[in-house]
Amino acid sequence: MRFDTDAVRDAWDHAADAYAGGQAAGRDVYRYEFFGPVQVAACGDVRGLRVLDVGCGSGYLARELASRGARVAGLDLSPRMIEHAVATGPPPPIEHAAATQLPPAIEYHVGDAAALPAPLAPASFDLAVSCVALQDMPEPARAIRGAYAALRPGGRFVCSIVHPCGDTPVRRWERDAVGAKRWLCIDRYFDRGPIEYPWNGWAYAFTTTGLHVPLEDWFAWFLAAGFALRGFHEPCPDADVLHRHPDLEAAARVPHFAIFDLARQA
Ligand SMILES: C[S@@+](CC[C@H](N)C(=O)[O-])C[C@H]1O[C@@H](n2cnc3c(N)ncnc32)[C@H](O)[C@@H]1O
Repeated sequence: MRFDTDAVRDAWDHAADAYAGGQAAGRDVYRYEFFGPVQVAACGDVRGLRVLDVGCGSGYLARELASRGARVAGLDLSPRMIEHAVATGPPPPIEHAAATQLPPAIEYHVGDAAALPAPLAPASFDLAVSCVALQDMPEPARAIRGAYAALRPGGRFVCSIVHPCGDTPVRRWERDAVGAKRWLCIDRYFDRGPIEYPWNGWAYAFTTTGLHVPLEDWFAWFLAAGFALRGFHEPCPDADVLHRHPDLEAAARVPHFAIFDLARQA
């Protein structure tokens, strides 16, 4: 299994049409229904802020924050993902963002987060975000240091990852006689290394590779980069969400996503 920058770029370029199409169609109920709103709320009032979206993909979080009045730069390794993000364009502003008197603004760049702050100016962002992208990068610690360097002193980094406790190298649901989930069998939590993710049920099937490390490695990387921890969230779908989407039941039993709220020291 290859997990270097070229292999990751190729995999996401191949995935981009199905991924972006599925996101545009609202297929990813996880982000729309429970972890996305938690991450957006953790960003706080972004009106007038200069925001960097690290691994922006087809631009979901960049658009969410731009619609709330931020001026966003999205960066992604995959040229095809960026083509989709550019083609989708900026979102209409939501009502409270109109107070900024500015049209929603997003610019997109193809680039490697491990090289940040390049191609962007150092210490030029008020807020950096990343939505379930860091675990897909071969060198997340470098990307984290890059995000730190892109932030002005006192700036914040609000990033979500796939939760390593619920997504281990060995993972299988034990089911009862009618197929209902009894419990999740997980193993090899302390292993460090790439895992292959098959994506089924999208316009076409594709496979990407992500990095599994224990949660303590993520905290160590953030702290080593110089970030201070402001908050930590493990989003869980509530009863209303589960009523609308019973298929999200597993996400109410096992953590699927982790969100770090960090600040660059002043
Ligand atoms: C699961 S997708 C998430 C995309 C987007 N943030 C979203 O919420 O839809 C992971 C993204 O990380 C990007 N990526 C992987 N390695 C990267 C790197 N080294 N630098 C920048 N982007 C990278 C991929 O191209 C892909 O678009």
